[in-house]
Amino acid sequence: MKKILITGAAGFIGSHVAEKILRKYKNSKIVLYDKITYAANIKYLNSIIFEKNVTFVKNDILNYPVLEKNLKNVELAINVAAESHVDNSFGNSLLFTKTNTLGTHSFLEACRKQKVKKIIHVSTDEVYGENLKKKSFTESQILNPTNPYSASKAAADMIVNSYNHSYKLNVITIRANNIYGTRQYPEKLISKTIYSFLKKKKMTVHGRGNSIRYFLSVNDFCNGLIKILDKGKSNTIYNIAANRSFYTLDIIKIISRHLNVDFKKNIIFIKDRPFNDKIYKINCEKLKRLGWSEKEKLEVKIPQICDWYKKNLKLFNK
Ligand SMILES: NC(=O)c1ccc[n+]([C@@H]2O[C@H](COP(=O)([O-])OP(=O)(O)OC[C@H]3O[C@@H](n4cnc5c(N)ncnc54)[C@H](O)[C@@H]3O)[C@@H](O)[C@H]2O)c1
Repeated sequence: MKKILITGAAGFIGSHVAEKILRKYKNSKIVLYDKITYAANIKYLNSIIFEKNVTFVKNDILNYPVLEKNLKNVELAINVAAESHVDNSFGNSLLFTKTNTLGTHSFLEACRKQKVKKIIHVSTDEVYGENLKKKSFTESQILNPTNPYSASKAAADMIVNSYNHSYKLNVITIRANNIYGTRQYPEKLISKTIYSFLKKKKMTVHGRGNSIRYFLSVNDFCNGLIKILDKGKSNTIYNIAANRSFYTLDIIKIISRHLNVDFKKNIIFIKDRPFNDKIYKINCEKLKRLGWSEKEKLEVKIPQICDWYKKNLKLFNK
């Protein structure tokens, strides 16, 4: 690959993807493109941004002319930019549609104009909606998003579908379940619990804390993305999922145990989301057939992630 562009590169997943991509394509020019929202931090890119083949562009994917200019001669483009927090989407849903739907459209159109050969679009399992059935959803499941975040992502996936068909653009979509790791803004379950306990604050729990979620480490996610990059079929969707699920309350318990926090005294139950999917259940056999499997165990990773937050608490001005 002569040139690669990654959007959302200064965010949680994007920064880990960027590091992996640089390691794999040492001789490629790499453009890291990010608007730097509250969830991002340029410091996440400290280990790679000073390399001579890496350029950082602070801009919006909705700024079409700038994005298209930066996609000139790009052979691989990876779209990770998004508004990613469901809770925020209830109060500010238009921003989610602008960034996630229109932003993805802008990205695809710019890729089309610049004839980008290979495109990876990062989506989410939430586009399928709740799955109370025994059987997990495959990639051909009809989409049934239930909150403004997942709806904006599902709409983006539909636009990807249209670009695959109408323009024969080579876009591969990845739909992952919850991802955890270092550098995640403390608003999602794992990062927020760690941050709250380290700041001696109580952790808020939606409803009764009995939603069920699958959690995949960001490393396993990135390895899945690389596997898809190497072996994935054009114009295809790949689910990527962890093997085990947890009640949200159990995740908080695991973290409290590690941080020596009295669990019962340090949680507050709050009103649930306007609508909260009980469980997302996806099947990633298609990706496993390419040779990917989950390697990292949540209980082993949590202490390492806690250490990172201890050292980096100052990054978050909450
Ligand atoms: N975190 C998860 O658990 C999870 C799970 C499945 C899928 N995903 C998907 O992965 C992607 C990344 O999620 P994340 O958790 O890293 O989110 P994040 O909020 O940490 O990062 C998003 C990044 O996108 C950037 N961004 C936002 N709007 C932009 C715009 N208009 N132009 C350019 N950059 C913009 C932000 O500055 C930030 O760096 C999203 O598409 C999300 O839907 C996340």
